[in-house]
Amino acid sequence: MDFPIGIFDSGIGGLTVYSAIRRRLPGNRILYLGDTARVPYGTKSTQTIIKYSIENTAFLLRRGVRLVVVACNTSSAVSLPSLQSQVPVPVVGVIRPGAASAVSRSRSRRIGVLGTEATIRSQAYLRALKELDPNVRVFMQACPLFVPLVEEGWLDHDVTRRVASIYLGGMRTHDIDTLVLGCTHYPLIKGAIADALELDGGGRVDVIDSADAAADQVADMATAVDGGAGLSEFFVTDSAARFRRVAELFLGKLRGTVTEVDVVHD
Ligand code: DGL
Repeated sequence: MDFPIGIFDSGIGGLTVYSAIRRRLPGNRILYLGDTARVPYGTKSTQTIIKYSIENTAFLLRRGVRLVVVACNTSSAVSLPSLQSQVPVPVVGVIRPGAASAVSRSRSRRIGVLGTEATIRSQAYLRALKELDPNVRVFMQACPLFVPLVEEGWLDHDVTRRVASIYLGGMRTHDIDTLVLGCTHYPLIKGAIADALELDGGGRVDVIDSADAAADQVADMATAVDGGAGLSEFFVTDSAARFRRVAELFLGKLRGTVTEVDVVHD
């Protein structure tokens, strides 16, 4: 029995989602596509993000995946309905699971959301949170510098802490009790983000990683392959060597092949 799972992201950050899924489904084959030639998606137009997302999904479907995970928050925010209406297998995004986890954990119903420009502009988290609980107050902040800082490997760095403190200055005044990390890269600087929120000595803020929440949903929907080899195949649209280097910088040894592909023609 085989139940391969396809995951795509604009680049490397979706490996946070990959790791969370791998922990829950150790025996399944996982195909991960990182669109490293066209990253970042977070600063692109809706139309372009949808086009890339459709091409990435078609690539994974040609390789026989039985479930597609849109690990990229930006793609999930903008293109999930288009994908779900066109694709013959289930498509799971990260927005709804992240929002559900936030609503279930927030007591004050004051929730913060951080994301890329495109994710915040789409208001997808706002809609998902309000659908789940119309009484929540939602405070959103785009943090465009976080992605390049993470890709530079500056996870525990003064500059990252300073940038986090500037971005979260407004958030600190909103008295939130829950914060959604609405971008694949942000869990990797969770420490800097949490520290920036606590500067005023306020109460503890529950920081939600939508990667974990999405992985729980995938584990519920997928057929687990017990005793399977748990093979991982990584595909990238540019520079396999850079992908492996940066990935291993923050996630440790990458177990699986990394192949460069042309996502439209291969
Ligand atoms: N993967 C993107 C996200 O989760 C971040 C990187 C990008 O802008 O492409 O929103």
